[in-house]
Amino acid sequence: MKCFEIPQPRVGIIGAGRVGSTLAQRLVEKNIADVVLLDILPGMPQGIALDLMQARGIERHDRQIIGTNHYEDLRGVDVVVITAGKPRTPGMSRNDLLHTNAVVVAEATRQVMPQAPDAIFLVITNPLDSMTYLSWRISGLPPERVLGMAGVLDSARFQTFIAIELGVSIADVTTMVLGSHGDAMLPLPRYCTVNGISIVDLLPADRIQAMIQRTQQGGAEIVGLMKTGSAYFAPAASAGVLVEAILTNRHRVLPTTCYLQGEYGLKDVYLGVPAQLGRSGLEKILELDLTDLEQAQLQRSSLEMKAQIQIMMERMGEHSV
Ligand code: APR
Repeated sequence: MKCFEIPQPRVGIIGAGRVGSTLAQRLVEKNIADVVLLDILPGMPQGIALDLMQARGIERHDRQIIGTNHYEDLRGVDVVVITAGKPRTPGMSRNDLLHTNAVVVAEATRQVMPQAPDAIFLVITNPLDSMTYLSWRISGLPPERVLGMAGVLDSARFQTFIAIELGVSIADVTTMVLGSHGDAMLPLPRYCTVNGISIVDLLPADRIQAMIQRTQQGGAEIVGLMKTGSAYFAPAASAGVLVEAILTNRHRVLPTTCYLQGEYGLKDVYLGVPAQLGRSGLEKILELDLTDLEQAQLQRSSLEMKAQIQIMMERMGEHSV
């Protein structure tokens, strides 16, 4: 007999495709939150939710998963994850998705806001930095509550290549990647270690450079192999870590796409930086000591991003941002 119910954290996922459905599976099977899965396709999120519900007896958890096509079902969710929109196909850059996905992200943000005005927003749709900016602008929320998922994924890719190269356990490798989620991302070898030992002391410079390039092209390499879509296991795992960090209020420090207001000398742009996260979203941005070269690269990322945002906002003007 139940005497009382402890309210369970709920996460609304907009876009029940490969990233959205894999994230839903992780959140429930890791017992992080109940999930409301929304998609534009009739019946599709309902079918995925039913499938995930039927896996509960095998996985032995009591999490609830609902599939829907109606934004009202996202009422009161604690975290909103936006992953609706097109993935890339071979030969495309993330930026090629800009206008198509801007319309989707704008629409999703507008529709979900009245239902979940107190939620923390996490954007995954690409091109991620611009989509996060757009969602923030349209939501009218404080920037601390609108974040983007990229740095955890890019760092995980770099971490993978280092562990393989050195033949060490990935559990001992920590990495840090800053900047935009694209070719101009900035892996920082000086801040990457094997249990505290800098990789700069463990690997020759040319091998590190090769791994940096592979990280920068990490998404494209997978698109080129898959041909029908883009990566989703590692992106969903990365988003799961961020959602968990927010809901559990552990003040974890994770590379996150955040709105910069003077940090790293940059303003009015979303870029990946080390961020302390908690139940209120972004608690603090940590500023690393960068070399002149690294600072210049981050500045370049910022300028490119601002140009992209301007093009997007001008175009979105037609849709009254
Ligand atoms: N509202 C809700 N859902 C939508 C809308 C919309 N307006 N437009 C598209 N969708 C849904 C699609 O119906 C589809 O189910 O978004 C889902 C996208 O799923 P996939 O095509 O499988 O794409 P996925 O691999 O999940 O990637 C989604 O995340 O990592 C990024 O680059 C990737 O931008 C892409 C996004």
